[in-house]
Amino acid sequence: MGRIIAVANQKGGVGKTTTTINLSAAIGEKKKHVLVVDIDPQGNTTNGFGIDKLNLENTVYEVLLDECTAKEAIIKDIVDGVDLMPANVNLAGAEIELVSSDKPSANILKSALDYVKNEYDYIFLDCPPSLNILTVNAMTAADTVLVPIQCEYYALEGLSQLITTINRVKKKLNPSLDIEGIVFTMYDSRPNLSTQVVQNVKEHVKQHIYQTIIPRSIRLAEAPSYGEPITVYDPKSAGAMAYSSLADEVISRKDL
Ligand SMILES: Nc1ncnc2c1ncn2[C@@H]1O[C@H](COP(=O)(O)OP(=O)(O)OP(=O)(O)O)[C@@H](O)[C@H]1O
Ligand SMILES: [Mg+2]
Repeated sequence: MGRIIAVANQKGGVGKTTTTINLSAAIGEKKKHVLVVDIDPQGNTTNGFGIDKLNLENTVYEVLLDECTAKEAIIKDIVDGVDLMPANVNLAGAEIELVSSDKPSANILKSALDYVKNEYDYIFLDCPPSLNILTVNAMTAADTVLVPIQCEYYALEGLSQLITTINRVKKKLNPSLDIEGIVFTMYDSRPNLSTQVVQNVKEHVKQHIYQTIIPRSIRLAEAPSYGEPITVYDPKSAGAMAYSSLADEVISRKDL
């Protein structure tokens, strides 16, 4: 049965989408079946996989409002081993509708994914940069939360708030929710700031930290404009190798 992993950090621009796209593509290449769910109205994951987000009949929005099933919203074989449930700006509307609905709204994504969960080894949920109802839906549906942290001076800021939210969801909505791990992104090997940040976070958090560190790489930043994950855009690049090694670590974790 699929492990559902929410990729979350309410801090913007830390590499959630880049990690979702490239980690799922790397896992797909390793002969696992992966579903990526874009739960961000920005639709960056949808775009990054080369899908025109403005011309979609069914998206996560329709799924959350029960206007279509999860199956109907899934685009198959977006790259090797990977299917995608896309999103676009309409999803911003769902936020309002979910909050104002009388029905309990945190469980909707979970219920929808229950129908497709068995078809996948991994399901990645790319969250928006906020701790809103969409992120809470993702954490309620998820088995674990993967937290990308950018190697910069304010790296730790907001992490305790994120962990508090995860614990609150765990207590009220999803008792088995766990932290999958923390992955450092945009590591710059020249200035020693990145090294200090990694050291500092390691001293302060007790959660699992992946050994693989994602380097800052122009190729990773360029790939979405070609609508391709790094595994396709430049499979031999340092970024592709890093995400492949992160994929190995995620797959080999059996304790979750
Ligand atoms: N390892 C990397 N090397 C170089 N650029 C990167 C790397 N990871 C991410 N970026 C770039 O940094 C920016 C932010 O990354 P990304 O969109 O993945 O973050 P995010 O956390 O999903 O952002 P948001 O909070 O807006 O959803 C993007 O322009 C992306 O191309
Ligand atoms: Mg994003």
